[in-house]
Amino acid sequence: MIDKATIQKITETADIVEVVSDYVHLIKRGRNYVGLCPFHNEKTPSFSVNTVRNFCYCFSCKKGGSPVNFIMEKEGLSYHDALLHLASKYNIKVEEKELSDDERRQLNERESLLLANEWAAQKMEKDLRETEEGRSVGLQYLYQRGVTDEAIKKFRLGYNLDSGHSLSEAAKLEGMDVKSLSAVGVLGESQKIPGSYYDRFRGRVIFPVLNPSGKVVALGGRDLKGGMAKYINSPESPIYKKSNELYGIYQAKSEIAKQDNCFLVEGYMDVIGMWQSGMENVVASSGTALTDGQIALIHRFTNNITLIYDGDAAGIKASLRGIDMLLAHKMNVKVLLLPDGHDPDSFAREHTPEQFREYVKKHATDIIRFKAQVLLKDVGNDPQKRVMAIESVVNSLAHIPDKVKRNVYIQECSRILGVREEVIEGAVEKSRGDVVERQRRQREVNQVDLMGQNENNPQPDLSKQLSTSRGREIVEMYPYYPFERTVVFHCVRYGILDFCEVEFDDGSHDMINVAEFVAEELQVDSIWFTFPAFAKTFNRILDLKEDFITENVAFLENLEERKKEMLKNGYDEIASKDLNIEEIRRAERLLEEKVNEELAKLRFEFARYFIEQKLSSHHDDDVRRTVNEAINEEQPLSNIYIRNNPVSERKMELDRMKVLVPRGVLEWKNEMLNQMIRAKMKQLDSMLGRSTQEEEQKILMETQALMEKRGQLGKVMGDRTIGKKIK
Ligand code: UTP
Ligand code: MN
Repeated sequence: MIDKATIQKITETADIVEVVSDYVHLIKRGRNYVGLCPFHNEKTPSFSVNTVRNFCYCFSCKKGGSPVNFIMEKEGLSYHDALLHLASKYNIKVEEKELSDDERRQLNERESLLLANEWAAQKMEKDLRETEEGRSVGLQYLYQRGVTDEAIKKFRLGYNLDSGHSLSEAAKLEGMDVKSLSAVGVLGESQKIPGSYYDRFRGRVIFPVLNPSGKVVALGGRDLKGGMAKYINSPESPIYKKSNELYGIYQAKSEIAKQDNCFLVEGYMDVIGMWQSGMENVVASSGTALTDGQIALIHRFTNNITLIYDGDAAGIKASLRGIDMLLAHKMNVKVLLLPDGHDPDSFAREHTPEQFREYVKKHATDIIRFKAQVLLKDVGNDPQKRVMAIESVVNSLAHIPDKVKRNVYIQECSRILGVREEVIEGAVEKSRGDVVERQRRQREVNQVDLMGQNENNPQPDLSKQLSTSRGREIVEMYPYYPFERTVVFHCVRYGILDFCEVEFDDGSHDMINVAEFVAEELQVDSIWFTFPAFAKTFNRILDLKEDFITENVAFLENLEERKKEMLKNGYDEIASKDLNIEEIRRAERLLEEKVNEELAKLRFEFARYFIEQKLSSHHDDDVRRTVNEAINEEQPLSNIYIRNNPVSERKMELDRMKVLVPRGVLEWKNEMLNQMIRAKMKQLDSMLGRSTQEEEQKILMETQALMEKRGQLGKVMGDRTIGKKIK
């Protein structure tokens, strides 16, 4: 792990303009920059870079963040690797931090598993070329299938010698940890003789699976002898979650971004075949249906995906699977069927690269059009089948988030299916409501997912555990999640700003900040954040007050110097002009006003962005994610307003904060009361006729009291807060 000081150095050194400029052509606009968003396809620039805040953001697709976040997103790296990436860009020496025993154990495990795979992959790459058996069996096989030396090198293909003990013996000789090799499935432990290991991939050609940062997370081994299992693959392990990896992504990622399209094929050899035909933007799902995690991985680099399948019945069926999921991810999906009996690998072997590329260009079809055509072909004269086909198309259409795009398809499908446009439109709009609701629920789940996920820590990988039902359970566990979210987001944005003055019992006064105000408000009613990532973030924000006070003193001293200098320069300039006493007085007054205004602005900005500065690259994933989401969600004020009226900008933001923060807390409490009232009423319902009037009366009174409290809520909080002196 990288130590705190180094992380700070990296985040302070990394300049957002420099970092982004490696990927985007930026145009200067005032003190900021704009450019075409590197995360989605666009013609007018909505990607903006804020130099002051060292931050970037796309107003259209809402991606962006600190330099670290940008690199994570753009290069598909983990937090840790993104820091290393920036460190090397800026020649910062990385110091490794002392780890806790637990951290060291987890990290060591992961590292040693990666090391085991890397060692095995290297050994087998070498054996492919440098042993007699490797050349005559493995290399011979690859050559015969038309694989070039260049591709062998690029995809790091290898060969596991057939003796059955070549790797286990080499491991012993070189002091490699056999336990790790066995944990990643390179070696298997003999059942007959425990403690003795054999090569699981013996006699196979090896296809290493690299993650986006080029680490070997798994291996695939192709049988050469006509055995039962054509391929065997590494088992899942702390470094390998099958549903989150795509074969070829490391080799393809930059080309996917460049071509702004990704080909998706089924197998190892298909990736290599396409690559050799000059279509390098290709990945494989390795024979399984596409998962959400894999789509998200592709989505980091492009919005456009072309599925390639064999033109036989199985291929057609496969191509229709998962399209709703792709559409919902706002992917533009095309499908390409190869002539019956061909996969990309065989097609590549029988055609020149030019022919192949020409075929792709000519035959790639929009997925919805394709679906409508395929289903219609199946219908024949069966009216029931026809209804089902229409329903199925309607359901896909309902997954398209963009209304304009949806309407274009509605027209086209109406033509293909021979059904009136209004009929399809009505059905789609009806179905759309359900889809949106489902997605909203799913989003909440994903948010939970996102917050809990931890890419540096292999252990609590929630992404898999949080299959839909489990995710929903979590949302059920945190019924106030959306309310907590709003409040914690406000605190990320405004937490350190002064909120109001409070008076203590002994008559003394003190200023509390926004976060402290929230803490107080919650404690009064014995409430706290229940969602762990929010609780953690909120506590970090409260902790920052001390840091802020110390750093603010230094900042203000610095500002004092700056003020003197600004005034001195101003006085000098005034003195150098030919003015009479009256005019000099006026000019000096104006100067002082201007300087004070400028300083007030700097003071405000220092406080306003303090939390963001401190936490947006925080080492804790929960904290960092929460903070970055809060910043990204922020609604910017109108540019015109800011340019023309810097004073009002601040005032407006302060006014807004003073309203928004109490309101957020209020809504949270209100919801709690609502739920309590509902529970009471339910209780009352079930009691009716079955209990004494007295008992009923009691519950009724309690309900009444809760309702009164709800009615008072706004006023009480108003008394406590608005009533206080707000500066
Ligand atoms: P295919 O059976 O289409 O294999 O499975 P292929 O890629 O065309 O292989 P060749 O051309 O016969 O050598 C597609 C993918 O499914 C996975 C592999 O990732 C394979 O590339 N698969 C297939 C397995 O994992 N195990 C198997 O036994 C078969
Ligand atoms: Mn094949």
